[in-house]
Amino acid sequence: MDRNEEQLKAIAEVKARNDFECKKTGVRKLYFIETHGCQMNEHDSEKISWLLESMGYHETDDKEKSDFIIYNTCLVRENAELKVYGQLGALKDLKRRKPELMIAVCGCMMQREEARNVIISKYKHVDIIFGTSNIHKLPQLINRYQKTGKTIVDIMEDEKEIEEIESNRKYSFKAFVDIMYGCNNFCTYCIVPYTRGREKSREPESILKEIENLALQGYKEITLLGQNVNSYGKTLGYKYSFADLLEEVNKIDGIKRIRFMTSHPKDLSDELIQAMGNLDKVCEHLHLPVQSGSNRILKMMNRRYTKEDYLLLIDKIKKAVPNIAITTDIIVGFPGETEEDFNETLDLVEKVKYDSAFTFLYSIREGTIAANMENQVPDEIKHKRFEKLLDTLYPIFYEQNLKYMDTVVEVLAEETSKNNENVLSGRTRTGKLVHFEGEKDLIGKLVDVKITTVKSFTLEGCII
Ligand code: SAH
Ligand code: SF4
Ligand code: F3S
Repeated sequence: MDRNEEQLKAIAEVKARNDFECKKTGVRKLYFIETHGCQMNEHDSEKISWLLESMGYHETDDKEKSDFIIYNTCLVRENAELKVYGQLGALKDLKRRKPELMIAVCGCMMQREEARNVIISKYKHVDIIFGTSNIHKLPQLINRYQKTGKTIVDIMEDEKEIEEIESNRKYSFKAFVDIMYGCNNFCTYCIVPYTRGREKSREPESILKEIENLALQGYKEITLLGQNVNSYGKTLGYKYSFADLLEEVNKIDGIKRIRFMTSHPKDLSDELIQAMGNLDKVCEHLHLPVQSGSNRILKMMNRRYTKEDYLLLIDKIKKAVPNIAITTDIIVGFPGETEEDFNETLDLVEKVKYDSAFTFLYSIREGTIAANMENQVPDEIKHKRFEKLLDTLYPIFYEQNLKYMDTVVEVLAEETSKNNENVLSGRTRTGKLVHFEGEKDLIGKLVDVKITTVKSFTLEGCII
């Protein structure tokens, strides 16, 4: 039996069991999935959700009511990891009260033996453990667990095993599309290359087919996902670049907006900058993680660019794409970071004038090179620098947003506000979050909004 047949057989068996139960009780089995980490994980959860729905499970947002709880984990920083242990600990009681409850843990944490062993030895109420390369095997794992009642641990170290699975997407108008898996960069602080394996690009045909299908279903915006999309194509074995892919996606009827995450400065080519300027559907937003403004620290991070290289790229992209929004990731307190190094970061953010930034306290990740570096920065200093960085960034974000005052922007309406049913929120092409009054039936549509109020993190306006 090939792998696909095995999967179909397992789906049919689990579904038959679920249907039988449903006939008896009148209710469907419910699943609850909690996702930590980046968009890669979010998209993986959409695939898991598709597999579960095809086996007859329905989704719930109430953990207490669910029959199957899945944690899709991240370990990029220590607090992400600790959160999972905390939440799993709290489930012990629920499992005691409801022994038929199934609990699964998957995602990046499970790709690391150390974290996996903690779960296996200390959290015995977890029934199924799987990784990021074998999501397609989930039906077989559930089936096996239901037949044997024994804890299942199934991990594939090899990203080559990754198989394409359909997704039960969270939105009906914007979608994530994987274009590559893994990462080869080995930034010295980062655990991702040790969890997601080596870089591997998906074939352009299968990416384009997926996007064409999405367009036929009415999707308007797609986000191309990869840890380093700028190096897309390198593993294909023939000449094909990320700019080539963007050009093809830009031709697909129905798609109005193209986004991508994440770009690495060392691979941001002139060809790509040109493509961003020329292709009408590619949004005017670039997320370009800088991590630090100090050349000494960048070198120790193995980022392979200097502050000057980075500023030159920013210059080029601002020229090629007028009004582009630039966002970034910054790590504060990398081992050996001095006050002088940190001041270089402050200087850089003043020069670039970011629209937004994710800022992180350096977190030691066992197994990475930086974890064993000397001169780890004391927490107190890290926190002080972190505060100072935010104090520098926030006024810049506000200043950038002020440019939108009284202008009309195209917004893709995404959802109603949590606090007020009559208020919708959506994003501009540049990625700015906008709140405005409007009817629910506008969700999923592109609307023109005039900006009337500007804040550091959001814009407010009215439909014109
Ligand atoms: N592949 C992407 C991002 C991956 S992780 C890229 O290269 O940009 C997202 C962000 O988490 C990173 O950009 C970095 O800023 C942060 N990060 C990764 N490892 C970290 C660590 N050990 N401590 C603190 N922040 C970290
Ligand atoms: Fe981590 Fe660097 Fe790869 Fe990004 S590029 S995932 S920061 S190793
Ligand atoms: Fe976390 Fe894995 Fe993404 S470690 S940031 S979920 S690739």
